[in-house]
Amino acid sequence: HTMTRPRHFLDICDLPGPELRQILELAKTLKAKRVKGVPPVERPLAGKYLAMVFDKPSTRTRVSFDIAMRDLGGETIMLTGGEMQLGRGETIADTARVLSRFVDAVMIRILSHEDLTELARHASVPVINGLTKLSHPCQIMADLLTFEERLGRIDGSTVAWVGDSNNVLASWVHAAARFGFTINVATPPELAPPQALLDWAKANGCAMNVTADAYAAVAGAQAVITDCWVSMGDEDEDFRRRVLAPYQVDAKLMRAAAKDAIFMHCLPAHRGEEVTDEVMDGPQSVVFDEAENRLHAQKGVLAWCLAPGIY
Ligand code: CP
Ligand code: NVA
Repeated sequence: HTMTRPRHFLDICDLPGPELRQILELAKTLKAKRVKGVPPVERPLAGKYLAMVFDKPSTRTRVSFDIAMRDLGGETIMLTGGEMQLGRGETIADTARVLSRFVDAVMIRILSHEDLTELARHASVPVINGLTKLSHPCQIMADLLTFEERLGRIDGSTVAWVGDSNNVLASWVHAAARFGFTINVATPPELAPPQALLDWAKANGCAMNVTADAYAAVAGAQAVITDCWVSMGDEDEDFRRRVLAPYQVDAKLMRAAAKDAIFMHCLPAHRGEEVTDEVMDGPQSVVFDEAENRLHAQKGVLAWCLAPGIY
């Protein structure tokens, strides 16, 4: 039988630029409409249920999806890996089939990207990537919103990533190709971006420059971005801290970027490791706007998945 594929939000690289732009603009519209403490008048997701599956810890993703869904009139169900039969060996595919009978969408945080795509393959409802070891697309939608609030359209701009090459960087690279901006990446040679990501960037016309020199990467950049040195699931913590030490974002590095460049971090931050207190708490930092914007970006994603064409 034929069944149209649900509108999964698995990766920024899966969607064409104009569609992503539409989600971003929707997020801006919904943010403009929201007055804290006043329930929104429109409830486009009334009667819809979102299951949230967390196999790993979360503060922002969990709270922002929960509030986003409720603001739009929907309901949420929180599940953690260990509490589910998934933890006792029920397959991802069967879990997808069962959840699809109950809920209208599934948001999942799970380290294995293969498990995410397996879930999506067997779900008949939209599946949203709430972070895997490979990517973190919802975060970057919020980050694009944050960048554009401060600095206008990101098209044609330059951003600099400094530090580890991880899931958050991968989604930034996908966004650079789809939204048309340059991304300069400074990582220690030992933690350089994976070949698959470099190949993807090349094949997709992404303006990505990789260097080991943090100062070279930030020169001319409108945003300096970093993330923790030890991500969920990483090992070799001592090795990572040692090779990443020269990549700390401090005031001196910020001064080497474009004038009035913003500092971005998806959080949680490890103050004194990848970033100094001075930069985190300084006037260029937009890290708490990024956190808030998870809420608005998530609404854009949820409405795109569950109520296409409603706005
Ligand atoms: N940035 C982010 O995804 O934060 P949480 O791990 O708290 O969800
Ligand atoms: N790179 C980090 C992001 C946390 C939101 C991790 O994967 O742990």
